[in-house]
Order: sequence, then structure tokens, then C-alpha cells
Amino acid sequence: MQARCYPATEIDFSYADLKDMPVPDRILMVTPTYFDVIDVKNTYMEGQMGMINKDLARQQWDSLFQICKQLEIEGVLSEVALIEGVPDLVDMVFSANQSLPWMLPTGQKVVVLSNMRYEGRKDEVQYFKPFYEERGYLIQQLSEEILLEGNGDFIPHPGRRLLWAGHGHRSNLEAAVQLAEMLQTPIIPLKLVSEYFYHLDTCFVPIDERTVMLCSAAFDEESLSAIRQVFETVIDIPEDEAVSTFSLNALVLQAAESKHAILQKGSVETIKALRTAGCILHETDTAEFMKSGGSVFCMKMLFF
Ligand code: ARG
Repeated sequence: MQARCYPATEIDFSYADLKDMPVPDRILMVTPTYFDVIDVKNTYMEGQMGMINKDLARQQWDSLFQICKQLEIEGVLSEVALIEGVPDLVDMVFSANQSLPWMLPTGQKVVVLSNMRYEGRKDEVQYFKPFYEERGYLIQQLSEEILLEGNGDFIPHPGRRLLWAGHGHRSNLEAAVQLAEMLQTPIIPLKLVSEYFYHLDTCFVPIDERTVMLCSAAFDEESLSAIRQVFETVIDIPEDEAVSTFSLNALVLQAAESKHAILQKGSVETIKALRTAGCILHETDTAEFMKSGGSVFCMKMLFF
């Protein structure tokens, strides 16, 4: 496979043809001290200005943090790292967005710092740079007109050298083109067509190298056909469940002996699919953060 973008019509491989890729087992979270909704960046934020219960948000974030800490104790994760939230940066708690960590074929760790679409989120990015520098990452950034919102739109194929790239709302297609070369990996762009699914991580959850859960209403036909060519099993989750419970913002963690999924409580079909796939489930409540358009996957970054 070449290090370039593959449109659906040019995909001549399935997951089994892709090179192996290490799976990250460290998590980075940002404390929710300054979390709030003060504007509308996505459809979920409409009508939510001033509606955040800060104490409840803190409790919900603590519960998620505790689940991650417990998984660290059990050896599923090797670290849960924290960056302190910064005054006025109300969306910084969504730590999936400011960066995209990756590993080059040489084993060198590299991170691409994001170019956020909204002015109000651009200042978040600088606080992530020292974090990665201290850990020996090569720091990269695209030129500023090319929008990139990190792991929110760029999701690694589990255990294989391939990135899935959402575009259409937040990140640009051009970001995918440039990242393929920068990260030396094939990338498959996916066009997001519904306002309810504005980041790829709201509608696309690879469970393992063969299986993905998604909401088909989020994608155009060409993107769906690309996904079907690479994955063996595609599970379509009903749109009302994906929208009302943010269930496709689940975080799936692959450990040597077990597979875990952390997700917003209350979904039915998503839970069923994860259970069938052999995941140990951790349901939690992220309702205050859903008012801002985010849930579990948005509130963490997986890094090497
Ligand atoms: N309010 C934030 C925004 O609109 C939510 C980000 C959610 N993050 C994610 N990875 N989907 O930017």
C-alpha cells in the first residue's frame, strides 16, 4: 500500500493486506474545570448556552477518569496522563481534537498539532505541544489554512497501518492528502454529510481490524463503499440511537487478553454489537458534555 489518499474507486485491498501498526495504550485527558457552552459550534450546542451544571459535569468527568484509572490498574492502559484545563478555553476538555499522535514505520513517534476550525478553540493547541515534546515526539503542523481536528476526524484502523479521515464539517480533505505523506501511511477519506455527525468520531467505531460500527446516514455512498471494501463486517447503528445517546462516540480499547468499551449509558443496539464482539462494557454518564456535542471518545486522546 502506498502512503497516499485512496478514494473508494482505487481501493484494491482489505484489512488483511495492510501492514501491522502498534496500538497506543496511554490516555490523555484534560481537566473540566473551565468547561462550558458559550457559543454554537455544532447542532447539539443549540439552546445549551448557560445550561451546563458545572458540578455535575465535574462528577461525570471524574467517573470517566476513574474508569480509565481502573483500566490502568488492570494493565489494559499503561498510563492516564492529565493536562490542566485553561481559563476561557471551554472546549479544551475534548482532548481528542487538538492533536494527532502517530508512529512512523521507523518507530519514531510523531504528532501533528491541529488547526482548529473555530477561532475559540485555536488557543487550546499550544498547551499540547510541551506534553508531546517531553515524550520524545517529533512535532509537525500543517499550514494554517488546512483545517485538521486531530483524532476527532482521523481514526486509526485497529492494529493496521491505515487512517480513516472524516472531512466535510471540521477537517479538510486536503489535510488527509498531506497527512498521508507526513505520516507515511495510506489514508481513506470519508465524506460526512449530516450535521448530527460533524466529526468522524461521532459516527464510526472500529471494534477490531475486521469489524466497524457506524451510522450510515452520516456518510455519502462512496464513503460507505470504501468502508465495506476494507472491513469484513459493518454494523449499522440506528440514527436515533447514535444521535440521542452519542453511542458511536464509544472508546474501544484493545488489550492483549481482553477488549473494553467505554460509552455513554442508555444505548441498546450499540451495546448489543459491542457485547457480541466480545467487549467488556463500561457504561457511564456524559450528559453534560453531550450538550456540547461530545462524549467519551472526545474526552480522551490515545497516545504512544
Ligand atoms: N463543543 C466541541 C466542538 O464543537 C465538541 C467537540 C467534540 N469532540 C469530538 N472529538 N467530537 O468543537
